[in-house]
Amino acid sequence: MKEKMIPAFRKAEGGLFTAVEKADVGSAYQEMEKQGVALMGWADPFMPDASMPKHVEQALIDAIRHPSAPHYTAPIGSSQLKAKIAEKLKTKNHLLVDPEGNILITPGSDSGLYFAILPFIEDGDEVLIPSPSYPNNTLNIEIMGGRVVPVPLRPETGYQLEAELLEQSVSEKTKMIVLTHPNNPTTTVYNRQSLEILRDFVIRHDLILVCDQAFEDFCYENEMITPAAMDGMFERTVTVFSFSKGMGLSGLRVGYLVCGDEIMDSLYANAVSVLGATNTACQKALIAALEDPSFMQEFERAFDIRRQAAEKILNSIPNVHADLPQSGFLCWVDVSRLGDSSQIVQYLVKHAQVAVNDGKNYGPGGEGHLRIVLGVYRDDAKVIAALERIKAALIQWQEENHV
Ligand SMILES: Cc1ncc(COP(=O)(O)O)c(C=O)c1O
Repeated sequence: MKEKMIPAFRKAEGGLFTAVEKADVGSAYQEMEKQGVALMGWADPFMPDASMPKHVEQALIDAIRHPSAPHYTAPIGSSQLKAKIAEKLKTKNHLLVDPEGNILITPGSDSGLYFAILPFIEDGDEVLIPSPSYPNNTLNIEIMGGRVVPVPLRPETGYQLEAELLEQSVSEKTKMIVLTHPNNPTTTVYNRQSLEILRDFVIRHDLILVCDQAFEDFCYENEMITPAAMDGMFERTVTVFSFSKGMGLSGLRVGYLVCGDEIMDSLYANAVSVLGATNTACQKALIAALEDPSFMQEFERAFDIRRQAAEKILNSIPNVHADLPQSGFLCWVDVSRLGDSSQIVQYLVKHAQVAVNDGKNYGPGGEGHLRIVLGVYRDDAKVIAALERIKAALIQWQEENHV
């Protein structure tokens, strides 16, 4: 059957997870969990512990019992949910949008990202991706026949955008840039200077920006600027949002995207065939979450404690460096002086009982790094104990390998 497929799909066997290591998902990961390995490779707040806020749970129960539960909402999403999202976009993102015309509800933001890119990319188009970053976008573009051109993000400049490196990457085939903002895995919140460079670049070369803001919620000391709200950007930007990271509601599979009338016209026209429609009861539960998002404070408190602890513990390991995470609940760790990061990941499973991600999976610039998800488990102490085990194992690794 494979030979009947178009080359992009044939090549993508195993999808993201061949490249990202089978251990990241599926049965190998579940097997590790059974053996007591701490799973710190999935960006899912408080996983695997119970974390559904009571009022959201109640709204979900009520929604399931409502006569509407077994029926579709419009493929473009529930009007009530879109109205709530428009309020949030106004206060938080400084984006004034028409809830009926500029918002599309998607079954999670991964499908939103795919749908945001789909109208624009065909064989031979080039897409710039500042790297390292979230690997799904690379796969999406390759499936569509596009070519990914990574734009280096350098630790020396705090992984911010650099005008010269963007200019060096552009060609007459470049159509789009996909920005993960804040970035996963580096946690970088792009600052105003970076985003002004980006805006000038995008407008000068007449590009589309797809901006993934899945991690926008906890930016600690940095200002979170939404590029679509900058002058001249709304009409050429598709911004993709998630409820999975900031609200920890990944299992409900609801996300949304926001763009101008012209792009949305085509997306609405194809929403039935590409997305179907998003789960009716889950959209209602999200209305309750947006009406009272105070539960997010517990995430923020926990993640802040953990990022401070991670910075201390990881930087006390000789030859290892980790910047204080700027956003969310990830930590990006430089282990390049210790050896091959894939081998280190395997070693940590065995000697620290912790599964983390290999930086190589996040594209060029990711080698020599680990991504550790600090947001797992409800109990801060469990995460800190796992970080201490990582420290002990990395010290032992250096002794064994004469680093
Ligand atoms: C940067 C980024 N964007 C989007 C997603 C997709 O999240 P969801 O489909 O749950 O909204 C993820 C999930 O890990 C992510 O890390």
